[in-house]
Amino acid sequence: MIPPRTLLAVLLCGAFLLACGERDGPVDPQTASGAQLYALVRCDSCHGGAREGTFLAPPLAGLARHWEAQSLADYLRDPAPFLASDERLGAMSQHYTANMRAFAELGKAERLRLAEWLLEP
Ligand code: HEC
Repeated sequence: MIPPRTLLAVLLCGAFLLACGERDGPVDPQTASGAQLYALVRCDSCHGGAREGTFLAPPLAGLARHWEAQSLADYLRDPAPFLASDERLGAMSQHYTANMRAFAELGKAERLRLAEWLLEP
């Protein structure tokens, strides 16, 4: 027979773990929203939690003036060629100590979802 106090402790622990799991369980990239992907792969570490920009990277606002969803998704996969071919980006890169890295670990669909979210007004 399990002592009631032990039983209570086990139940409380279980409930606690369940509650935590529901709030910040692992995000599945395949079903994650653009906003969730932005946090998941840590775009916020350079561009800021509200995309406001930091000393490490520019703000991400008004992007629709410069990007289509597909070109932006391609940029996220491999930014380097864009720095070379796009004068605005090349000039922008001079202001920051490090360039943006490639996010090749994101699948095609995830990159597009992230790009579409970034382009939302
Ligand atoms: C290591 C810091 C860093 C991280 C992490 C990072 N970026 Fe960047 N990002 C930069 C820098 C710096 C630039 C400016 C261009 C350059 O120097 O590469 C830039 C440029 C950009 C631009 C071009 C802005 C414009 O005006 O056209 C976009 C869009 C962008 N980043 C999106 C993202 C997204 C989305 C993520 C996450 C998948 C991300 N970045 C992660 C540093 C970062």
